[in-house]
Formats: sequence, C-alpha cells, structure tokens
Amino acid sequence: MTWTKKDVLDMESLSAEEINIILDTADSLKEISKRPIKKVPTLRGKTVILFFQEASTRTRVSFDIAAKRLSADSISISASNSSMVKGETLIDTAKNLEAMSPDIIVMRHSSSGAPHLLAQRISASIINAGDGTHAHPTQALLDMMTVRERKGSLKNLRVSIIGDISRSRVARSNILGFTKMGAHVKVAAPPTMMPKGIESLGASVTGDMKSAIEGADVIMMLRIQKERQQSFLFPSEREYSKRFGLNISRLQHAKPDVLIMHPGPLNRGVEIAPEVADAPYSVILDQVTSGVAVRMAILYLLAGGMRDADDH
Ligand code: CP
Repeated sequence: MTWTKKDVLDMESLSAEEINIILDTADSLKEISKRPIKKVPTLRGKTVILFFQEASTRTRVSFDIAAKRLSADSISISASNSSMVKGETLIDTAKNLEAMSPDIIVMRHSSSGAPHLLAQRISASIINAGDGTHAHPTQALLDMMTVRERKGSLKNLRVSIIGDISRSRVARSNILGFTKMGAHVKVAAPPTMMPKGIESLGASVTGDMKSAIEGADVIMMLRIQKERQQSFLFPSEREYSKRFGLNISRLQHAKPDVLIMHPGPLNRGVEIAPEVADAPYSVILDQVTSGVAVRMAILYLLAGGMRDADDH
C-alpha cells in the first residue's frame, strides 16, 4: 500500500493500514535524531508553514524540528503576530499563505473543524495540530508509537484514559486510534467531565478510578482543560486530585508493567503526582521524543516521500 492522502485531519479518516504506514515510517526515521548530524536532505526545497493560533510547546517545536531534520524550510506564524489581529479572516489569511506556495501547512486552532475548512479551500497539505475539543491526530499517533515500541503491538492492550474527557481532543483521537488498532479503551472521569455518547467512539466508561487502573496496560492521564470551560466542573482542584488524581497509593492496583502517559502540559499535583510523573514506568518524555519521529513521518508522507521512493 502506498500513501495517497493529501491531509492529516483526524483519526476517523485514517485507516489501520495508514496508521501502520505512519508508525513504521516514524520507526525508521527515529534514528536520524540520534545521529551527530541530525539532518537528511529528503525534503530539501519543500516549505512548511507552522500556523499556530493557540499556545503550544511540544507540538509546535517538534513539527519545526521534524521539518528541519528533513531539510524542509519551516516558517512559524501565530495569531498574535499575523494580520489576523487587524481583522483578516482565517480563509483570507490561508489564501495569502497559499499564494506563497507552501507545500504543507501545520495548523492549530481553537475552533473545531478549522483545519478541515482550510483543507477544502487550499491546495497545500493541511496537518491538524489540534482543533478545539475535536481532534489532535499527531498526538494520538505519537502515543501509539510510544506504546507499540514498549509493548510490541497495540492489539488487545487495555488502555485507560482518565481526566477531562469532555474537552479533550487528545482523548477523542486516542480512543479512535487505539480501538482502530485493536486495543480496548476505557475512559474515566467525574460525570461533569464525561461526554454523553462517548461509548459510540468505541470506549467503555467508568466513574471509578480503581476500575480504570486495575488490569490496564496503559494509563493516560489528562489535564483539566481550564481554558475551554466556563466554570470549574469540580468543587476544587484539591477535591479533583483526591478523587481522580493518580498517585503512588492508587498505583498499587495497577499491573507491574503498566505504562503511565500524559500528553502534557502537566498540572503536577492535580491530575498526576510528581512522584508518578517522574517514575521509571512513566513514558511522558518518551512521548515527546516519539513526537518528532511521528511528525517527520507525516511531513515525509504528505510531501510525497513514499511515492518518490516507490518510483525509484
Ligand atoms: N501535547 C500537546 O499538544 O502539547 P502542546 O500544547 O505543548 O503542543
């Protein structure tokens, strides 16, 4: 199978075969980051625009590093330093960027569906780097890569995602991605943070931390998305931490080889205790390392790397 997609927008539109292509490509590109000279000429002459309209550390920096390691030219713009502050619309901004012939636009936006809108209107490839509460496909892919590296396969693994499920694009993308690859996903949250109908994505639901922890091969903790909620959906952070925070004492119910994950940024002492975040079974920083490889793979595939390799 070869890569044919123009855009990477969400996990719904990626097949299991396409997910495997991305993960296999990422596996083979990962060693470039360990070389003394971390650069190959593969995407020389390609232009990548990083168009971030929401704050980001991991996603923006890793896309930038990924582009540079493949020798693409990367240019970063944000809402605050673009002419959108003067009233230019998103579509007009994108059309103006398109007029400068970029090959790929990596986009983060606070509105769900914004990258999909752009993908329909402009010819450059669009990568969704997180849109509102909807999707964060590259996060799910780097999470799957991290787990696959350690467990060998995703099939039949038990993955528990715990926290603010309602507002989490990471939770939605990971439920869809992991279930597509044969894992069993359970979500746990207080009722105020659990969206109705989440089971339709393929996850089972619990409100009980012990049930989420027992038997899990992977525990993924999520941050409370304060920036996306009108009012705090729990009496206090302390109370939330007591009921849904992951600490050493709760982990006594976990499997001995459990992996602890978190997409970042962490709120230490709220959803995850520092001694858990920094423990040997935590793969939080390995997720960040996988992020560079996965984003290199996606840039490579969208820029036609696999097609070019097949032609040779
Ligand atoms: N996980 C994640 O998307 O982190 P950033 O918001 O820092 O990019």
